[in-house]
Amino acid sequence: MDTVKLKIDNIETEVPKGTTVLQAARELGIRIPTLCHLQDINHSSSCRVCLVEAGPRLIASCTLAAEDGMQIKTNTERVRKARKTTIELILSDHNRECTSCLRSRTCELQDVAYQAGVREVRYAGEKSNGWFDISSPSIARDMSKCLLCGRCVAMCSNVQTVGAIGFMNRGFDTMIGPALDKPIGESVCVNCGQCIMACPVGALQEREHIQDVWKALADPHKYVVVQTAPAVRVALGEEFGMPMGTRVTGKMVAALRRLGFDKVFDTDFGADLTIMEEGTELLHRVETGKGLPLMTSCCPGWVKFVEHFYPDMLDNLSSCKSPHEMEGAMIKSYFAEMMDIDPERIVVVSIMPCTAKKYEGERTELSNEGMQDVDYVLTTREIAQMIKEAGIDFANMRGETFDNPFGESSGAGVIFGTTGGVAEAALRTVFELVAGHELETVEYNAVRGMEGIKETVVELPGGKIIRTAVVHGLGNARKLMSMIQKGIRKYEFIEVMACEGGCICGGGQPMVDAKVREKVNVKAERARAIYAEDEAATIRKSHKNPYIQKIYQEFLDKPNSHKSHIYLHTHYLVRSRY
Ligand code: FES
Repeated sequence: MDTVKLKIDNIETEVPKGTTVLQAARELGIRIPTLCHLQDINHSSSCRVCLVEAGPRLIASCTLAAEDGMQIKTNTERVRKARKTTIELILSDHNRECTSCLRSRTCELQDVAYQAGVREVRYAGEKSNGWFDISSPSIARDMSKCLLCGRCVAMCSNVQTVGAIGFMNRGFDTMIGPALDKPIGESVCVNCGQCIMACPVGALQEREHIQDVWKALADPHKYVVVQTAPAVRVALGEEFGMPMGTRVTGKMVAALRRLGFDKVFDTDFGADLTIMEEGTELLHRVETGKGLPLMTSCCPGWVKFVEHFYPDMLDNLSSCKSPHEMEGAMIKSYFAEMMDIDPERIVVVSIMPCTAKKYEGERTELSNEGMQDVDYVLTTREIAQMIKEAGIDFANMRGETFDNPFGESSGAGVIFGTTGGVAEAALRTVFELVAGHELETVEYNAVRGMEGIKETVVELPGGKIIRTAVVHGLGNARKLMSMIQKGIRKYEFIEVMACEGGCICGGGQPMVDAKVREKVNVKAERARAIYAEDEAATIRKSHKNPYIQKIYQEFLDKPNSHKSHIYLHTHYLVRSRY
């Protein structure tokens, strides 16, 4: 390997060619502050916070390639002064209502200002346009806090390949937003919320629905039911200072009960139901050879991506609603009937790791008899906020279990939370349904892990083949779609999750501190916890869940039945590419 030798703060170091000075300094334990830099994603070098001295020059270290013989100084008076001035200039055009900002604890600008010792902002003057855009059901944009660092643009364009936002205008009028200055809700934005995760400050945030849920909980005429997605239980603890990857399922259930929900259900049950419906749909399509490849439809960001960019493949999407929508539909029908409650009184709240689920909850196709299947969607961050507001000592709570009939679920249901999980869960059930006997090993390791595109081939008893592809991140999905359209690849089954890593890294998950991000593999830690939850489950296949068997006996008849189609299936729309 080609290497280069340089000195940073008089310490000699040797690094692979192509390494930046910023990376080389980090290897030596020297922390240079950054704002616009996002490892492997944004290299715009626009904020100038990471200045270092290279000979007579002050230069941004995040894009400066290390070279043989370089002498870099990161801690001279000149460097400290220049960084401080740069940060003050950024702050001079920033809405500094920090105490009421949603990113108060996790704001990277606050952190770099503190680290640089900024105690005053000496520059006053005109402020740029402070537009607050709440046109999207998922994402709010507060332009008074935007630093123009470009991290959101890079995430949306380079990683997700959606390109919903970009830079507009010039000079002081420069702004970030959708083309033609449209509101974000009218753009091709798929609501994945990865721009929120990329934003260093509070310029991008989820549309909060906390007050709506507090109001419903306080209304004695409402019967308020909550359900929680699999990925929430492996990340919620981070909001309360617990190590990444801590499983907090029992504490979460207990806390939700303390908040006053009438029933605490598990969306993993909805995931098991999805497998029954989608697995049956897959087998039918494989047998008839029609509508292949079947593409999963659990992820609303991915569904909207197909609606905008691949409308000719809408029929390939499974007609199944996503797990929390299926469960919402069952709560307002089967459960309402069982409990003799007027479904109009029931409020279904979904706790999701995802901002796109907020938009999905409002889709009119996902309703029955004029009632939305799900009334409110809260992110992991929002439910953590409610728990904090209620003064609940989360970390010390004693664990409790979910309520039935939607509290029992399989390990297959829980792995929906990570990339590869839906495919693995489906293959566990599809194989056994065809074979008529138990699988020896339930793990499909080929679809696990964080590779962008994973593939496996499963031969069913009787000889039918299911070529399966699993992708996460919409950029990878676009690559796969292109290969399919060009005929380079052929599959029977495709799982797509819009966010890299899957739901565990959704746009509604806890923000991870920049310093932690450098050291901890967030995707791997949360995925490890998901698989541990599966391993700990007594039932690991969806069709073995006794409450799933019961709901078919008592209400739905059989998978893909007429009644299933009324409650559990949906359709999609063609949307504009622009
Ligand atoms: Fe290097 Fe912004 S972090 S220029």
